[in-house]
Amino acid sequence: MAAALGLMAAAGGLPPPAAGADRDPDWSVFRPEVDRSPQVVARAMLAIAGVGPGDLVYDLGSGDGVIVVMAAKEHGARALGVDINPAMVERAKANAAKAGVADRTAFVEGDLYKTDLKPATVVTMFLWRSMNLRLRAQLLELGPGTRVVSHLHDMGEWRPDRVKQVYHWRWGRRPVFLWVVPARIGGRWRLKIGGRELDVQIEQTFQRFHGRTPAGGEAKRTAHGLRNGSIDGRRIAFDLAAANGAWKRYTGAMTADGTLEGPGWSARRTM
Ligand SMILES: C[S@@+](CC[C@H](N)C(=O)[O-])C[C@H]1O[C@@H](n2cnc3c(N)ncnc32)[C@H](O)[C@@H]1O
Repeated sequence: MAAALGLMAAAGGLPPPAAGADRDPDWSVFRPEVDRSPQVVARAMLAIAGVGPGDLVYDLGSGDGVIVVMAAKEHGARALGVDINPAMVERAKANAAKAGVADRTAFVEGDLYKTDLKPATVVTMFLWRSMNLRLRAQLLELGPGTRVVSHLHDMGEWRPDRVKQVYHWRWGRRPVFLWVVPARIGGRWRLKIGGRELDVQIEQTFQRFHGRTPAGGEAKRTAHGLRNGSIDGRRIAFDLAAANGAWKRYTGAMTADGTLEGPGWSARRTM
């Protein structure tokens, strides 16, 4: 039921019962009072993502278009909404026209799971948690640095980079979550650093990573590997043991061609 999300929210934002967690709700009825992001929340969603004129915002399940229209009108962005309910697509188009942003917005009828999200620089969602989780793998495939914002629900083990609590007169505190899609760096790399060359196997878990070096040879000198790795979009940081065993912090970024570079070091993928 469309109302279920609202009822759930009224009950304090509790997640849906486990039995329904693998089933999407029936959205054939849109109830604006509970299914639409309040203006104050929509505004916070666009602010936390730092939306600007250079952005292309995709709202997945766009309802009557509040987020899409606001992205265009208040941030000068281009924005697209996709909704499975044709009546909502028509209503959203009318709202965009009324707001004078029809030229920078588009609404399409379709299934958000089947939508190509690659062009988006920002993806916004106000869905069920089970839907967020189902979308997670697809979102993690987007270009590093793409911002993902969710009203109300999180993304499980993919911890948010930021959370803002927004106060709404009726619903009380509403969380707004931001994730920045991390560069994908898991796998094998040849690392040139401090006059050494090392083969490193990187294990990545969302925005965190650590590295192991194969046993023997040069690797012996980094017996403790590489630790405390963090990824913020394309930017990365990690600690590596120097030849004398002392830990040193390195920072850098993934370049457009997929290599990793920072002051005094670089790495290229070998597998
Ligand atoms: C809670 S409303 C959010 C509307 C709007 N994004 C907002 O924040 O005000 C969720 C919307 O998602 C749409 N929806 C649900 N499942 C969908 C799917 N599989 N594909 C596209 N839209 C979907 C519903 O029709 C509904 O309009």
